[in-house]
Amino acid sequence: MKVLVATEKPFSKIAVDGIKAVTDAAGYELVLLEKYTEKKQFLDAVADVDALIIRSDKVDAEVLDAAKNLKIVVRAGAGYDNIDLAAATAHNVVAMNTPGQNANSVAELVFGLLVYGVRNFFNGTSGTELLGKKLGILAFGNVGRNVARVAKGFGMEVVAYDAFCPAEAIEAAGVKAAKNQEELFETCDIVSLHIPATPETKQSINYDLVGKLKKGGILVNTARKEVIDEAGLIKLMEERTDLKYLTDIKPDADAEFAEKFAGRYFATPKKMGAQTAEANVNAGIAAANQIVGFLRDGITKFKVN
Ligand code: 3PG
Repeated sequence: MKVLVATEKPFSKIAVDGIKAVTDAAGYELVLLEKYTEKKQFLDAVADVDALIIRSDKVDAEVLDAAKNLKIVVRAGAGYDNIDLAAATAHNVVAMNTPGQNANSVAELVFGLLVYGVRNFFNGTSGTELLGKKLGILAFGNVGRNVARVAKGFGMEVVAYDAFCPAEAIEAAGVKAAKNQEELFETCDIVSLHIPATPETKQSINYDLVGKLKKGGILVNTARKEVIDEAGLIKLMEERTDLKYLTDIKPDADAEFAEKFAGRYFATPKKMGAQTAEANVNAGIAAANQIVGFLRDGITKFKVN
């Protein structure tokens, strides 16, 4: 069996070594395609592989057509909106993710962005503290739960809303549950997004919703750029000069945000949420184990198609 790790944004070496230890133990061959710049390189590399590990790398019908022997693709991470699930099913390819494995890494970055934001991007002027502020967490999955845990360490008041998680489960985790996302935005000083990009959530973070934030409000996005209605957010930030937007995923209109909202907008140059040795090791090795579990024993836990 041949396993390809195709990562435009590579894992740390320790994670690749860990993946190799798993595939070696199973008697599989491991090949790497890192930092590729052309889709053609990806198409060539998948031609003869049985299994594929990816990160945000796009697996569409063209990639699946090129991957004649492919049986399984594992997204080493949480969000699998980069895999065309219908095409994978049509090609008889199992798609999986590795939920939770990089959640702490993303959650810690939320606070990196927040401290940077409330201290005015370290420009020397007087900022504010997080202690006592109300943090709204939109979607209480693995990342949202980790954000809640860290927020308590900062002494923040924590509220969450999740369309798929009942209020009782949120409250059982020691977090106040909001009735809906409108209430979350209306009552919090800061809202941190942890929703996946789905047809329902795309562009759902819009002018009206973000406009409910209190004076001095901050929106933090370590989820997906697609959930933001960029034109609506730009219009709002033009009108509300008190609002800040901090994101780990550059919007399509990054240049416009940067030009119009200096001092109120920050985007990481490259998505950094899951970019820690620990998250790479957790997600990469989980992906390798899931591949062996599926190819050898037919285990389909974490299958998403
Ligand atoms: C995820 O969905 O797991 C995160 O967005 C991480 O994405 P990355 O592997 O491209 O860093």
